[in-house]
Amino acid sequence: MGAGAARVAADYIRQRVGPAAPAPVCGIVLGSGLGGLADRLVDAVRIPFSHVPGFPTATVAGHAGQLLVGTLADRPVVALAGRFHMYEGHEAALAAFPVRVLHALGAPVYIASNAAGGVRRTFSAGDLMLIADHMNLMFRNPLIGSTEPGDERFPDMSDPYDRDLRARMRAAAQVVGVPLHEGVYCGLLGPTYETPSEVRMLERMGVDAVGMSTVPEVIVARALGMRAVAVSCITNKAAGLSAEKLSHAEVMEAGKAVAGHFEALITEFVRQLPAA
Ligand code: 6GU
Repeated sequence: MGAGAARVAADYIRQRVGPAAPAPVCGIVLGSGLGGLADRLVDAVRIPFSHVPGFPTATVAGHAGQLLVGTLADRPVVALAGRFHMYEGHEAALAAFPVRVLHALGAPVYIASNAAGGVRRTFSAGDLMLIADHMNLMFRNPLIGSTEPGDERFPDMSDPYDRDLRARMRAAAQVVGVPLHEGVYCGLLGPTYETPSEVRMLERMGVDAVGMSTVPEVIVARALGMRAVAVSCITNKAAGLSAEKLSHAEVMEAGKAVAGHFEALITEFVRQLPAA
């Protein structure tokens, strides 16, 4: 799932949207329950994942599984409603493949979003968290194997979530009046949620939110030299931090509840994004 396959996918997408389509200012992946942003795209060409060369077909319930090319806040963007998770059995390289496609389409900025469990005790369902940094506790890496053309062999990860883009996201949050926390995201394989002991471990390690995505994508974005920024939607407290049991349905419901805030935030961020 490398650069060559990404070029084939990008060629197909360009052929679907026509040669006049401008290069996107960013590529956006919409996490669980956050797909509503796709409906804010104007004049969108919607391409089912199953039509995109190199994309697998099956996705988890709640992920629409569409790639959209359109405009958001009058800026050309590409958005993916849905993603490929490692817990579905996909390799890390496939989980990150859509980012290669966004890069091949000319997007200089990658925006990730996800549903995540709150580990920081003051977090509750409906909070948004700007990802300051991540921990890769998936123990897989999408760059394993021979180096793809255009990839760095040993990417620097000292600032994976771009400092300037984070400042811009905070500024956008101020403009639209959406509270935005900032913290460390930890990627785990899933599909089980964590045990209370695991959550205590994560808390002691300095984790603020935990989820099952984003990390492979951001690794590939960095290897390609794309600037990355990411927002977690805290859909629930992690295990042991509340009396509630965790269910995917609850995660989806909470995602929908904060969707309005999330959509306003990302729309304003894209509005202010400089041209490449
Ligand atoms: Cl509590 N854990 C993980 N790994 N992913 C989640 C979550 C928790 N809540 C939403 N997504």
